[in-house]
Amino acid sequence: MKILVLFGGARRVNTYNVLQTVKDAMQQATPVEFKEIWLDNMELPFCCSCYSCFFHGEDKCPHVNAVNPVFQEMIESDALILATPVYSMQLSAVLKNFLDHLSYVIHRPAFPSKKALVITTTAGGGHVGTANYLKSILHLWGCDRVYTIPVRVAAMELIISKKLKKKICKISQAFCEDIVQGRLYPPSLKYLLYFSIWKALNGQGEKDQTSDYIYWQERDWLAKDYFHPISLPRRIMGRSMWKFFNYLLRM
Ligand SMILES: Cc1cc2nc3c(=O)[nH]c(=O)nc-3n(C[C@H](O)[C@H](O)[C@H](O)COP(=O)(O)O)c2cc1C
Repeated sequence: MKILVLFGGARRVNTYNVLQTVKDAMQQATPVEFKEIWLDNMELPFCCSCYSCFFHGEDKCPHVNAVNPVFQEMIESDALILATPVYSMQLSAVLKNFLDHLSYVIHRPAFPSKKALVITTTAGGGHVGTANYLKSILHLWGCDRVYTIPVRVAAMELIISKKLKKKICKISQAFCEDIVQGRLYPPSLKYLLYFSIWKALNGQGEKDQTSDYIYWQERDWLAKDYFHPISLPRRIMGRSMWKFFNYLLRM
């Protein structure tokens, strides 16, 4: 099993310590090959808002040579881990900058069957909000299930207590089992709604052959109710939402 870690910190202290505990717990459950990418080593320029990725394809991004190799690693991995310290109540700037470069993935979800884990550490606050923000981005990228480990350190340096270790191990092992079993979960109403909105929006792009239309068409998602098969009640709900948004768009 190959897991890609996108590390948003600048040092090997608290966030790294939690990451190591996660890695150890997962290794105990199954053999895992971890690859860590330290985003601050990428020296990625800021997104320049050229909109090329949205309208002309991600290969037209002026920073494609830096972003694409990491994106390919993400595609090829079995699961993703995003880890960041909290800075000013949010994720680190290097991680945010990387996410900004992948904003188009919200339009063209790339990870529909992937599981992901988010690690955040903070001195006092912001760890839960930051973890939830990253969880929502991963879901918008299509990830099927996202686990979170938000940790308040309440000191300069984290000492992992027995209780915290137990919690980290429990979540890490559930994450690991989920990847091995490859079970696909039913979407929440929120993400079923997002799928239906994107399906209605992208269905409008046929005439102009937009990048989003081509992507959704190639995957046959314009004819589906969700990325993977879902129950009849959810199918009915998804189809009703899609019809409603289609009606609004045609008005
Ligand atoms: C620039 C900067 C901003 C920070 N902002 C916050 C903050 O808003 N709230 C907070 O509780 N801790 C804040 N902290 C503390 C870190 O979130 C905390 O020490 C974290 O565990 C550091 O992780 P690391 O050891 O992996 O770098 C900040 C630290 C730095 C360096």
